[in-house]
Amino acid sequence: MSVTPDLEHIIDQARTAFASATRPADLENEKAKFLGKDGVLTAELKALGKLPIEEKKTRGAQVNAVRVQVEQLLNEARQALADAELNARLSTEKLDVTLPGRGLNRGGVHPVTRVTRRVEAIFRSMGFDVADGPEIENDWYNFTSLNSPMNHPARSMQDTFYVADKDERGNPLVLRTHTSPMQVRYARTQVAKMNAGTLKKGSPIKVIAPGRTYRVDSDATHSPMFHQVEGLWIAEAVSFADLKAVYTAFLQKFFETTDLQTRFRPSYFPFTEPSVEIDMAFGSGPNAGKWLEISGAGQVHPTVIRNFGLDPEEYMGFAFGSGLERLAMLRYGVNDLRLFFENDLRFLGQFK
Ligand code: DAH
Repeated sequence: MSVTPDLEHIIDQARTAFASATRPADLENEKAKFLGKDGVLTAELKALGKLPIEEKKTRGAQVNAVRVQVEQLLNEARQALADAELNARLSTEKLDVTLPGRGLNRGGVHPVTRVTRRVEAIFRSMGFDVADGPEIENDWYNFTSLNSPMNHPARSMQDTFYVADKDERGNPLVLRTHTSPMQVRYARTQVAKMNAGTLKKGSPIKVIAPGRTYRVDSDATHSPMFHQVEGLWIAEAVSFADLKAVYTAFLQKFFETTDLQTRFRPSYFPFTEPSVEIDMAFGSGPNAGKWLEISGAGQVHPTVIRNFGLDPEEYMGFAFGSGLERLAMLRYGVNDLRLFFENDLRFLGQFK
């Protein structure tokens, strides 16, 4: 339908106004100027009422046709803005599906855990059981049963974290200062089995017990939490010579070399008699010829054997307690123990 020039002009104005709107909100404002309550087209429609009937018909049809066109222009402009917005998003959020994937980061076993597993495998191959026990230990297992009575000065060899609570019998509780209480716990369960007839009487007690231990201690070679592995072999005639053979064989397997020496240096522990400190020296490598302290050990004291529930006239054997971080440091050439517990992935990632 052809329309009068003034109406044609309204269409041109609307076209220009809609095209210049760059955001949907601007476009809606422009729309109001034409189609809104106070818009020009609304005014035209209102004005029709004052016209004579014939003119009203033709003019009315024209105004209506213009309204339809303006609405169409508006819809086109809305669509154009929506398209532009979508295209802008598509170009910023584009995803190149042909790029290679980033891959999953593989985790690894902590070096102390690796060393623990290695120690377990070696001792298992020599017939030792592997046991686990509580880190919050009562004072009897941690000290008294191991021949360190209440108020005995030997207790001060280990700076201890006492726990505020007591156990159900009123015994003080401590964060275990060593894995040695596991000697008594394990031996007593084996003896209980022997007494109950579920384990042959006279069976050897042969176990290692790795785990976390705690002391008030902190420097490059001490951490308030560290790991030990306890060893115990009790039978009718397990001698100091057996200790030397077993421990030396263990070190050779652990370090994968027979080119190392061991030295059993006299020492003191309340729970062994005689007591030794075990030192080792590599025959070659960066530490060649340097004696390194690696473990405490000794023949189990008769009082401790009695606390196992056994007669020290019938049973004898050895025990040892070694630092697992110390073994890890030597195996991997780490010179600061604290690195194991800082959780720095640059360090830990090297053991994957
Ligand atoms: N429990 C001792 C400590 O932590 C180490 C030790 C020494 C364990 C001699 C033993 C042993 O079993 O026989 O210092």
